[in-house]
Amino acid sequence: MSGRTNGILPLLALSLLFTGGAGLRTAEAADPAAGQAVFHSQCAICHSVQTGRNMIGPSLFGLVGRKTGSEAGYHYSTANQNSNLTWTPDELDKYLESPRTVIPGTKMTYAGEKDAAKRADLIAYLETLK
Ligand code: HEC
Repeated sequence: MSGRTNGILPLLALSLLFTGGAGLRTAEAADPAAGQAVFHSQCAICHSVQTGRNMIGPSLFGLVGRKTGSEAGYHYSTANQNSNLTWTPDELDKYLESPRTVIPGTKMTYAGEKDAAKRADLIAYLETLK
């Protein structure tokens, strides 16, 4: 019995270590290559990263630093068009966690990414698109 308990403790310590590692990665080194993979699995079905190529959603080329609703030739919802935000990394982090909280009435039907490390990677990738 006590042998069993002793076996579980190191495992617990190990899983704590892993959680700590993920937290550190978010704060210190977001990985654009990992973010590109997230983009391909979660965003590419609706968004292109080629300049001027609008699909179901607007092109995300040059996104970081531009105003909401400013991609030429894309027909935005009035909610997105009038939200008057600038896509800074901070604003994107909030939006990508829960789009409908930041822009109520958006026509983007993406539920959001709850994993902060994945969002950080994704935003690091979006920052390379310029
Ligand atoms: C199901 C399709 C769909 C998916 C999946 C999707 N989007 Fe969107 N996205 C849209 C649509 C449609 C809009 C336009 C929203 C509006 O006008 O209300 C939009 C708008 C946006 C905007 C605002 C752009 C601007 O110029 O103001 C950003 C930023 C964005 N999406 C990022 C992402 C990212 C990053 C992902 C992946 C994590 C993603 N989207 C996934 C359809 C999608």
